[in-house]
This record gives sequence, structure tokens and C-alpha cells, in this order.
Amino acid sequence: MSKAVTLIEGDGIGPEIVHAAQRVVDASGVKIQWDICEAGAEVFKKGLATGVPQETIDSLKRTKVALKGPLETPVGYGEKSANVTLRALFETYANTRPVRQIPGIQTLFNGRAIDFVIVRENVEDLYAGIEYLQTPTVAEGLKLITRKGSEKIIRFAFELARSEGRHKVHCATKANILKLTEGLFKKTFEDVSKDYPDIEAHHIIIDNCAHQMILHPEIFDVIVTTNLQGDIISDLGSALVGGLGVAASANIGDEVSIFEAVHGSAPDIAGKNIVNPTAILFSSVLMLRHLNEFEAAYRIEQSLLYTLGVERAFPKDLDKSSTLTTTGFTDIIVRNLDKVTDFWATRPYKPLHLPQVKDPNEDVPRKELGVDIYIESTLSPEALGKSLEDITNLSPFFLKMISNRGVQVYPNIAGLKPDTVDHWRARFLLKNKESHIDDTDILNLIEKIGQSHRWMHIEKLNEFNHALGFTRAQGEL
Ligand code: NAI
Repeated sequence: MSKAVTLIEGDGIGPEIVHAAQRVVDASGVKIQWDICEAGAEVFKKGLATGVPQETIDSLKRTKVALKGPLETPVGYGEKSANVTLRALFETYANTRPVRQIPGIQTLFNGRAIDFVIVRENVEDLYAGIEYLQTPTVAEGLKLITRKGSEKIIRFAFELARSEGRHKVHCATKANILKLTEGLFKKTFEDVSKDYPDIEAHHIIIDNCAHQMILHPEIFDVIVTTNLQGDIISDLGSALVGGLGVAASANIGDEVSIFEAVHGSAPDIAGKNIVNPTAILFSSVLMLRHLNEFEAAYRIEQSLLYTLGVERAFPKDLDKSSTLTTTGFTDIIVRNLDKVTDFWATRPYKPLHLPQVKDPNEDVPRKELGVDIYIESTLSPEALGKSLEDITNLSPFFLKMISNRGVQVYPNIAGLKPDTVDHWRARFLLKNKESHIDDTDILNLIEKIGQSHRWMHIEKLNEFNHALGFTRAQGEL
């Protein structure tokens, strides 16, 4: 029975690599019905601001799988890139990047038995793009991490480990500093790992992870991490094994998955028949495994390993003296589809089980303790502090402290002279801890502050499950 796949040619070198992949997949013995669709630069130029036409969306809804060339957002068209639109529309929450030493490709790390997968959360974190200028010169970005989003990607990482016969998952976070956001990801990992007793679970601080990826890359099997951290370490991973030209990626969602090379549209070499299709071919291997076409995936992977590692046929980017064209290289890959090598130990691949995760919506004991009010002011910390203390005289709140760029500056306990900007956070707590906060108390406080200062943001201070739901400022007791 044939399977349907949406084929998005993409821009620049896109059509060249995508057609190479189509040829190799067709020759590998699997029956694919390709639904060729548009997205990217030409679509923007036709006046569609998303860069993704409805026919392409409908095709993806039907096939659930796409093999995609790189997409450009031409200058002057559209606000968002067509890539971002596709990822957001279909919520492809799991970005996976295999990092495996490829024979024949010279790197600084040859012979280091590198073989791991980076699993990057691909929806949340700073990439939600929720940003504000709070004053003309102070910008804020919201880093949103949810229990549900974390659980989904972490379960996905463990399931991926099982489906590939891997034994270890590292969770890489900055929980030592970002105790609530990255801390929630770490805590979720600790909870979820209990459901996977067959897999070793380790936490590693992200900066040490980057360090160990260079010093001891062989210790990793699967690394799961948040969006921004994952963005950086996945390119680091690509560099360990030969760079963007050979790096494959999968964007997996609950319904739809998109497979693509990591590199872009390489306009400098487009149309010259010299682009290296290796990355999209390895991405096609990931796609075929996703479709449970393990035999065809194995044949293409082995052909690539044989062609690069034994025949040592390289496109121009891997060997400057090579005269091999994209079509010439693709011919060789097709010819070598029956070749087998022993460069990579064969993994016992099994179908990947996608996790189903519900929003926990836990009904935990909670209490409001106070509010943080953000104020724009050119006053000194002392003058601002005295003014806010006067304002709270008759209110149920007292001024606990003022911080500037995260550091407590009032009261100035350390006696240091902080380098401040015009953006202050004033923390107000209930005078009587046992009493209850009414919204009118908060509104009255804001109204009084607004009479003498410019405020721009408010955040409630909660306790959930008897633990503080906010962090203290640096220097706050
Ligand atoms: P790029 O990856 O397209 O090119 C960087 C350099 O690597 C160029 O010199 C290029 O010739 C070379 N290169 C890339 N892939 C190659 C391959 N397979 N074989 C041989 N050489 C290769 O990055 P750049 O120039 O920053 O981006 C160009 C366009 O691609 C931009 O519009 C960008 O937004 C878009 N882009 C799209 C992506 C996607 O759709 N997933 C990812 C990255 C960039």
C-alpha cells in the first residue's frame, strides 16, 4: 500500500535537494504518493502574507507528513517566516536532530564514537515571542514554560530512546539560575523519568552540557532541553559531525510531522547542480522510520554510509576538488542502495509511540501574598522607596523592597552603589500575613501609585502548595 507525503520544494536549492530525495526514496522500494505543494518566497510574492497557501495546509492535514525544502522570507514581504507559520499551525513540538559521526567526513572529532539525538522543545520558552518594551529603553521577553509542554517533550524523549534502543536521557537545563521556569522542566523530568525505569535519567546544567559535548561527546545518548537552549546546542551538535550541510532534522507534532535539512536555501549556489543533498537524504531516512518503513530507511542510510565512507564520493562542499554534481551524487546513492556497511551498529528501531499528555490543572492549595508593581522613574532608589512607603501608609500592603535589573536596591542593605536604569520593580506584601487580598486593595494601590509615578506592569505574588511561586531578588532576604 502506498503512503502519501506532502513534498514542499522550497526556495533556492530547495527543488534540487527535494527532487534528489524523491528519487532516492522512490528507488528504495517504498511506495510514496508525493503531493507536491508550494510554500515560501514565491507564495509571499503572490501576496499571501503567511507564505503558506491553503492547499498546502490541506495537503498536510491529509498526509500528516511533509518532506520540506528550505523556505525564505523575502525582505519586504510578510511578518512571520513560512517555517514559523508551518511549525505553529501544526504545533510540531518536538524538534529532533541526530548527531552521529558520518564516515568519510573529516571533523575535529573523528573517531570519538559520537552517536546521540538532541530533542528540543519547539513551541514554548522565549520562542512564544511575547515581548514588550516596558520603557523606551527597557525590553522584556516572557519565558513561558508549562508543565504540559515540558511533560510532552520529556515523554517524547524517553519514547524516542525506547524506539531507537537507546538507554540514557540527559535533561539539560539552566535550573540552577532560572529556578521556576527551567526548574519546572527539570522537576517534570524527575517525575516523568520514574515511568521509564529501563532508561537512565540524568540532569545536566546546559553550560556543562555544551562543555561535555566537546570534551566527552560519547557520553550522550539522548539530550532533551528547552527551546532556546536546544536551538544553540543542536547547532553545536551539527558542528561536531560535519556541519549544517549534512545535518538532518524532524519536527514532530501530535498530528503532523515535517522533515527537513537543517541548512537554508543557499541562494549562492542555487540552480548550479552542485548542492550536497546528504542532509535532506538523512532527513528522508528519519521520515521513512516515522512512517515505519524501516527497511527502506536502512537501505538509504547504508547507501549514504557506503558512498561517503567506502566509495568516498563527495559533493563539492565536502571536497573542493570534486566535480560531482548533485544529480551525479544522487545517481551514486541510488546505485548503492544494496550496499551494506558496518560503520554504524544497527539500532533495533521500533515504531515511535507519541505521548498523550493532559494539562494537569491541579487544584493545589494557593494563597496570594502580595504584588510586584513595575514602575518607570528617574528618581533615586531612596527617593522612590520613601515615596512608595508614604503611599502604602494606609494600605494593607507594605513595601518589601525595590529591585532594579533583578538586584535589590532599596533598602540598600549591602551599602553598594548600584548601576540603575529607569525600570524598577516594587514588591508589596500584606502587612497581616493571615489576611486575604482583595482585588480592590490592589486596584487602590495601583491608583495611588499612578497619581505620582508611571507604572507599566503588575504581577501577583502567589504561594502554591505552600511554596513560593516567585523568586526573590538578588540580595533580598
Ligand atoms: P544557508 O544554510 O542557506 O547557507 C549557508 C552556507 O552554506 C552557504 O554558503 C551555502 O552555499 C552553504 N550550504 C548550505 N547548505 C548546503 C548544501 N546542502 N550543500 C552545499 N552547501 C550548502 O544559510 P543562509 O545563507 O543563512 O540562509 C539562506 C536562506 O535560507 C535565508 O533566507 C534563510 O532565512 C533561509 N533558511 C531557511 C531554513 C529553513 O527553511 N529551515 C533554515 C535556515 C535558513
